Amino acid sequence: MSETALEADIAAIQAEIDAAPLATPDDAETFRVRFLGRKSGVVTDLFSKIGAVPPEQRREMGQRLNGLKQSAQDRLDAALADLESGTEAGATDLDLTLPGRVPAPAERGSLHVLTQTLADIQDIFRSFGFAVARGPEIEDDWHNFTALNFPPDHPARDMQDTFFLEAPAPEGRGVLLRTHTSPVQVRVLEAQPPPVRVIAPGRVFRNEAISYKSYCLFHQVEGLVVDEGVSFADLKAMLTAFARAFFGASDGPAREAKMRFRPSFFPFTEPSAEVDVWWADESMPGGGRWMEILGSGMVDPNVLVNVGVDPERYTGYAFGMGVERMAMLRHGIDDIRLLYENDVRFLRQF
Ligand code: DAH
Repeated sequence: MSETALEADIAAIQAEIDAAPLATPDDAETFRVRFLGRKSGVVTDLFSKIGAVPPEQRREMGQRLNGLKQSAQDRLDAALADLESGTEAGATDLDLTLPGRVPAPAERGSLHVLTQTLADIQDIFRSFGFAVARGPEIEDDWHNFTALNFPPDHPARDMQDTFFLEAPAPEGRGVLLRTHTSPVQVRVLEAQPPPVRVIAPGRVFRNEAISYKSYCLFHQVEGLVVDEGVSFADLKAMLTAFARAFFGASDGPAREAKMRFRPSFFPFTEPSAEVDVWWADESMPGGGRWMEILGSGMVDPNVLVNVGVDPERYTGYAFGMGVERMAMLRHGIDDIRLLYENDVRFLRQF
């Protein structure tokens, strides 16, 4: 092989090396195999032809082939470096504002209808100047019953079917899941002297047969006002104002807040009254029925004595309402169990 033929080959391959595409990792691999491959690479191939060059020119041709090989290696190294930093540059360009690849936009949730009802009740009483108090769901016998003037073994305890716990009783008192929020009355009066004006929202538990109108757990909001000169007229005015604020603001069936006070009995109030709200239903004989929403009354002097408040100086009223009942009346829900099934087809309506 003559020097010129080899020179021509070198020039052609140099042109190829300079023009070969090197934009992708695949390009780079093809390039490496073609120009730098040890077995079939074209540059290796040219080295094998050097023996045919006249001896005095071999040295120079060898140097030129080495240069050719080096230029291929340099282009490949540069391309690989570019490819690598290219991916990094891509990472910093990541567009965080691109919408995610979700087939449909994620659905927005909402507050459970009971949570909404509780919040509305609390807002109304806060606007009337009530503070919010809380008590434990696991109560003792003293706070749930005895201090509230339910004597031990008195039949009045049968009004509330109770879940008793087998936990060791502090100071000999039985432990139970509270059956109402009224024990918070006792806890508040034990902790602070009158004047008192609080509500106590929370969960209560009863060992009752589950039906469209009763469940083993439900919510109550207790109210307690104790001060000098508090009368039954104050109680009646407060509850009437509350019912107007709560039902008057809604489009529910009891929109006009048709309500009545009915004499009743509770061990911890004297006198006592229950409040009913009219449930309008065209399909019922009489166009609807009365639905009880709360119990109330003047705090029994025995309760005040039990917590160390002087009943000669102070009087008070109390009430306790069922939150589920309020939600059902407001929205026309006819089965309490719907509130606990967590079926989104039901919940999404509120
Ligand atoms: N705690 C009673 C119940 O769950 C309801 C009640 C009645 C609460 C009269 C009161 C009240 O504060 O004065 O059945």
